Amino acid sequence: YASPVIGKLPVASVDTGHILKILEPIWKNKSETASRLRGRVENTIINFMALDLTAEHKMLLALALKAQKNAHAPYSNFKVGAAIIDENAQLHASCNVENAAYPLGQCAEAGAISAMIASGSKKIKQILITSPNDEFCPPCGGCRQKIAEFADKQTEVHLATQSGNIKTVKFTELLPLAF
Ligand code: THU
Repeated sequence: YASPVIGKLPVASVDTGHILKILEPIWKNKSETASRLRGRVENTIINFMALDLTAEHKMLLALALKAQKNAHAPYSNFKVGAAIIDENAQLHASCNVENAAYPLGQCAEAGAISAMIASGSKKIKQILITSPNDEFCPPCGGCRQKIAEFADKQTEVHLATQSGNIKTVKFTELLPLAF
């Protein structure tokens, strides 16, 4: 990917708990949206090193990391997290969920999309994917098609690694000439 790395933060040392505390109303009280929580997240002096990380990055990252910890990936040992901000500024997160019939496992992105659709939203404004290692984990081909269903020309995909690199690409860069 040609896109520059826009932020760097040592994920292992990040106190996501602090941001998750601010984000708690999202899963305790569904009426809270990312835009209403934005200011509180932005004003949080947290261990995030990269000054150019937006509040949206921080929220998506904290949620994806939280979901990633719960991934059920005993077959691949490859835990992935994904988080979405939709057109209503609602946040959704999920992780990969595998089972003994290997091909039937579900990717983290698919789970986050399902949560978004079940909540009544239709548009992925931003999606962030946390890899389990120091490499970026761009969505698989199948997930690109799933994202395409709910993306537009502005949709951004943020890729985050455990060593703290985050880079942003336009979804159209990931799936040109989409069906
Ligand atoms: N996986 C995801 O959840 N998202 C991706 O973008 C790539 C791969 C999952 C599928 C499987 O459970 C594991 O990672 C190994 O491929």
